[in-house]
Amino acid sequence: MKKLFISILTLMFLSTIAISASAGGKCPQPRKTKSAPSNIAKMDKTGSADAGNGKSIYLKKAKPMACKMCHGGNGDGTGKLGKALKPSPRNFACSDTMKHVSAGQMFWIIKNGSPGTGMVAHKKSLKDKEIWDVVKYIRSTWVK
Ligand code: HEC
Repeated sequence: MKKLFISILTLMFLSTIAISASAGGKCPQPRKTKSAPSNIAKMDKTGSADAGNGKSIYLKKAKPMACKMCHGGNGDGTGKLGKALKPSPRNFACSDTMKHVSAGQMFWIIKNGSPGTGMVAHKKSLKDKEIWDVVKYIRSTWVK
């Protein structure tokens, strides 16, 4: 009985390590991004957005750089450049953090950037519709 108990404990311990390792970026991740104005934070135009187009923006088309370079191909904030940045890029796979981030909030930061961080504004390179496309891709792929 005691042996069984110990093996169960060992198993639980090992699976916790496996889970935290697969989560990649830090989670929960502290957020200091400015809040979008409340009317925009409440806005959600992902209903008619195109997640497929959002995907190609995220993985390659975005300028000056694809979102994945920082936020990672698996959305956890550990892209090639992301690892070196402080603050770190948002870890979209972290539900503890992302439950506080609405679609409208994402739209606002993608459009206007987070001044003084690696997150640049995309208002000149992406149309509003394209920003909603990428918000939809991120939310439908990683945000639980
Ligand atoms: C050069 C690296 C870099 C690139 C490229 C980049 N980001 Fe970011 N992103 C960041 C960093 C760093 C933060 C965290 C900013 C902060 O904490 O103030 C961030 C934060 C965010 C947030 C968080 C909003 C919030 O309020 O929590 C969203 C959404 C986001 N990025 C989406 C994108 C999208 C979509 C793209 C591509 C169009 C992109 N990012 C490209 C580095 C990057």
